[in-house]
Amino acid sequence: MNNLVILISGGGSNMLAIARAAIRERWDQTLNARIAAVISNRPHAAGLQAAAELGLSTEVVDHTAFAGHADPRTAFDDVLRQTIDAHEPSLVVLAGFMRILTPGFVVHFEGRMLNIHPSLLPAFPGLHTHQRAIDAGCRFTGATVHLVTTELDHGPILEQAVVPVLPNDTADSLAARVLTQEHVIYPKAIKAFLKSQA
Ligand code: GAR
Repeated sequence: MNNLVILISGGGSNMLAIARAAIRERWDQTLNARIAAVISNRPHAAGLQAAAELGLSTEVVDHTAFAGHADPRTAFDDVLRQTIDAHEPSLVVLAGFMRILTPGFVVHFEGRMLNIHPSLLPAFPGLHTHQRAIDAGCRFTGATVHLVTTELDHGPILEQAVVPVLPNDTADSLAARVLTQEHVIYPKAIKAFLKSQA
């Protein structure tokens, strides 16, 4: 069985789009895949409740609990890695997981960890992508699913969606339009990835 572990920090709408596609399309039968766990670094992430309501197993690794460590980022990543590894994942899915990961963590999962980023990479890596696209006068922006490498928001591109920037867009209105396309391309990219590994 291909175990998927999904990491979230917030609302988890991408996680839900993936979970609903997995149920609707019977990924357990068609791809021999299942969502083994949804893990959040924030105990109150809304997505955790939504995942539980879908019957998914949820866990929390709270990054604020590591503040007292000499190297909090590495200490957090070590526990997160162990928590993920307990599920023997074929694929780790970053779905709105708002943490910068240490190189050791990324290398451990390299080749089997995907991310979705709300821009047409390589344009606008990092934060505030929608405002930056508006400020730059972009007519189009979008979203990208890519393999995670040690360089932030880089790595081989697996899927993209193009979304128009409309004249009166705010960062919020644009984000909402992009998000609807994220929900289409992330399940699609995961399916293609799993098929390519079969
Ligand atoms: C999504 O727009 C995702 O692309 C973005 O956070 C949002 C999470 O929404 N990710 C990043 O900005 C990563 N750098 P969700 O929790 O509803 O899926």
